[in-house]
Amino acid sequence: LAAAGAGLAAERSRHESGAENGLKAPFFGRHQSGIATAAQVHLQLAAFDLTISSAPDLQDLLAAWSTAGAALTDPQHRSNVHTIDGTTLTDSGHTLAGADANLTLTFGLGASVFTSNGQARFGLAPRMPPALKPLPGFTGDQLDPRRSDGDLCVQACADDPIVAFHAVRALARIASGAATMRWSQAGLLPNTGPSERPVTPRNLLGFKDGTSNIANDDHGALRQHVWVNSGDGPPWMVNGTYMVIRRIRMNLDSWDALTTAEQERIIGRQKATGAPLSGGTEHTPPQLNRQRAGSPTIPADAHIRLASPTLNHQQRILRRSYTYTDGIDPGTRQPDAGLVFICFQRDPHAQFAAIQQRLSAHDALNNHISHTASALYACPPGVQRGQPIAQRLFV
Ligand code: HEM
Repeated sequence: LAAAGAGLAAERSRHESGAENGLKAPFFGRHQSGIATAAQVHLQLAAFDLTISSAPDLQDLLAAWSTAGAALTDPQHRSNVHTIDGTTLTDSGHTLAGADANLTLTFGLGASVFTSNGQARFGLAPRMPPALKPLPGFTGDQLDPRRSDGDLCVQACADDPIVAFHAVRALARIASGAATMRWSQAGLLPNTGPSERPVTPRNLLGFKDGTSNIANDDHGALRQHVWVNSGDGPPWMVNGTYMVIRRIRMNLDSWDALTTAEQERIIGRQKATGAPLSGGTEHTPPQLNRQRAGSPTIPADAHIRLASPTLNHQQRILRRSYTYTDGIDPGTRQPDAGLVFICFQRDPHAQFAAIQQRLSAHDALNNHISHTASALYACPPGVQRGQPIAQRLFV
């Protein structure tokens, strides 16, 4: 791994800007890609537990991953064979398609990198951001610890599932001897095809998911709600963000037994158009005060009312979720399918946890979903040429 830093420095002389090379979301930059960048249709998440114990070893691993990340997402990939400490990255025809698959890689560090079972790790305990403290438990949680948490996280997104899988596989091989994979999770979005205007994807409940979200080019809202500002916590996280992952299983049988009108009252939006029940079209802001025959048009326990900024001290989150389908639950013989809910924010406690507290207590959707895994990671700022991910953590 030690040679990896040199490899990263060598990246300097190559692709100066991802955009110039036709990359939609360049690997290098102020922020990591895969956050406020257009969602590709495939997701491969993996969490790793570290088996090393010294900070230099951890730095070496992050440097090696940064070098590999630059190589894997490099549009010039096909003309280069990348080998990092004996691990060849372009070892199959599938990875060679990476240049066309719009691969992004996003790295995160869990709280257990800093302290675990009350023991400081890697000498980094004083650098742990307060925002990374564990999330509280929520009403109805059915979390499986084997699918939750982890020291490090990699989010690979691509328009080709094999490319996303293979990127994670390459990083796992590089980490061999330093970290083992704790869990992994695939996700997908509907393939809406090329379109002039972006189409909001539907989730497995059949509803458009992502209508009221922070837009990737809304830099004011991103600064306010997503990117860590100076003064928010330790300086190494400035321009980074915090990622929450919740694996949320859907009870599709109970959902499908409802009428469309019943489903719409649970979400608070029309199924076909995505328009709020208070009227208008998909992007008309919901009117939470509107009444019909003495009742609110968007019911008191509707998902979009309880998740709205109005009821949550104007807090917003950047959602970037994917559908998952993992076969059937062998016990119930029901589909194990639902949402890999992913959101990014400046402060997961003031934002995700506050919203989820309200949802877990009152959301009408709770009768049809259960949260089965949870993770929280600090995603450092973007990788700079010649400087590995999270470099400032160790300075
Ligand atoms: C399986 C679980 C979930 C499903 C099926 C689901 C589905 C939806 C749908 C269909 C919408 C309306 C369309 C849109 O604006 O995107 C929505 C909105 C929203 N959801 Fe969820 N959601 C789930 C879990 C969550 C969780 C766990 C949170 C956060 C704690 C959350 C936060 C939000 C927010 C903030 C909005 C936008 C509210 C607004 O500003 O109008 N959702 N969700």
